[in-house]
Amino acid sequence: MEPLGLRAVGSHCSLSEMDDLDLTRALDKPRLKIERKRSFDERSMSELSAGYGRHDGLHDSPRGRSVLDTPLSSARNCFEPHPMMAEAWEALRRSMVFFRGHPVGTLAAVDNTTDEVLNYDQVFVRDFVPSALAFLMNGESDIVKHFLLKTLQLQDSEKRVDRFKLGKGVMPASFKVRHDPVREMDHLVADFGETAIGRVAPVDSGFWWIILLRAYTKSTGDLTLSETPECQKGIKLILSLCLAEGFDTFPTLLCADGCSMIDRRMGVYGYPIEIQALFYMALRCALSMLKPDGDGRECIEQITKRLHALSFHMRNYFWLDYQQLNDIYRYKTEEYSHTAVNKFNVMPDSIPDWVFDFMPLRGGYFVGNVGPAHMDFRWFALGNCVSILSSLATPDQSMAIMDLLEHRWAELVGEMPLKICYPCLEGHEWRIITGCDPKNTRWSYHNGGSWPVLLWQLTAACIKTGRPQIARRAVDLIESRLHRDCWPEYYDGKLGRYVGKQARKYQTWSIAGYLVAKMLLEDPSHIGMISLEEDKLMKPVIKRSASWPQL
Ligand code: GLC
Repeated sequence: MEPLGLRAVGSHCSLSEMDDLDLTRALDKPRLKIERKRSFDERSMSELSAGYGRHDGLHDSPRGRSVLDTPLSSARNCFEPHPMMAEAWEALRRSMVFFRGHPVGTLAAVDNTTDEVLNYDQVFVRDFVPSALAFLMNGESDIVKHFLLKTLQLQDSEKRVDRFKLGKGVMPASFKVRHDPVREMDHLVADFGETAIGRVAPVDSGFWWIILLRAYTKSTGDLTLSETPECQKGIKLILSLCLAEGFDTFPTLLCADGCSMIDRRMGVYGYPIEIQALFYMALRCALSMLKPDGDGRECIEQITKRLHALSFHMRNYFWLDYQQLNDIYRYKTEEYSHTAVNKFNVMPDSIPDWVFDFMPLRGGYFVGNVGPAHMDFRWFALGNCVSILSSLATPDQSMAIMDLLEHRWAELVGEMPLKICYPCLEGHEWRIITGCDPKNTRWSYHNGGSWPVLLWQLTAACIKTGRPQIARRAVDLIESRLHRDCWPEYYDGKLGRYVGKQARKYQTWSIAGYLVAKMLLEDPSHIGMISLEEDKLMKPVIKRSASWPQL
């Protein structure tokens, strides 16, 4: 069996090479066919596995094993699988959806305890990601390939909300398989937001699709899928929605409310970190897969420029630590011209009280949102974890995010990993920002609720930063409850102690997220699938006042 990083040899730069691509050079030079370097996996596994006594490296990565009820991990020498893992695999397999005989995804939930199905009987693109990773880590790539192909076909369908047509590149939020008993045929019905509660746009779907295509390619070494004209076109269509030049003065992506995992009104609009981090990761994944021919070359150039601007903007303006908070606290306002330090005219009075107590002397995070006179100081788990995985966060920033998690364990992790955001909105703020949403009351659901699915992202971030012990603590918490509570979708309360008010049971991504976390801890070499190494030559953080030409 070949080591993971050596299989993916293609006619152009391989994935691992492109991960390390020097963006600065890519800006003005055509891509060269370069000698294969050691991939991230190969390079860093010895470092990553330091402290993982039982891990013996990359070369025993799981491949091509068909497992019915036993996760591969149980076959490993020194690894004692938790009994929950077998249960989780069974539950995950029960959620599988088939289309004309092929597995194409997993249902959002298989909850037989309620009649209120809503759209939880569909395959959500974002929900399928942890399922896909679990299958890939277990050497079962078929379902992932079929999912990628089917959703790609769905991208082609006409999408409308009433009389308004959506952009060509939009990927569905979810789809379902309908069986026509008369014609004895399956067909797919997609939802691009046109039937979703609130008619929200799934901006994250396209990004997850690109990220998953890279994960599939990296894991299987099968370049033939990502290199097909269909996949190349799909990537370009998704990105054409985001890369067009227009009125924007910021490289961040302007979004409507409810366009990601938080798919209800929660004040997550404008320039939310959840989308910016996924955008950055998708751009980098696309860069590693796009062929530099025809319009591919132009797309590569656009991506490269955008990555530069985006990383600069995020690392400077979204980053908050003790020092930065103190600077903002002392900001002058109404500064005009290029010399402005407080470029977005953020009013120090808008800093909420909680953040002064919350911020440790060591540690930091990317804030929820930055726009004109607007800084959302809330912490968002997905955005911060994906920032680490995509290397949007510098190594120092990644470490600081982990420090914050350790310092603020009670607030961010509590008794059930992981708070989707912190803190919650209450009272007047809740009324104004959520529109009095009864599902998003304080410390519930998207409003400071605790989501087990986020465990996989936390674990991956811990492994990437070499701090697996943090993930182990979180896994222990999950193992003490999740199975007993029938794998709920989310938990409520300041500590995440209560099963969520309206939480589904047997929520698939809670199940799959647990499996992915366990498999990552057991074999950290899997991290290469969902992690991108830092681009060493990307410019370091520059103090904000230094970014403008001096007059
Ligand atoms: C809820 C969540 C959303 C998820 C869907 C299916 O709407 O907010 O993120 O994709 O359920 O689980």
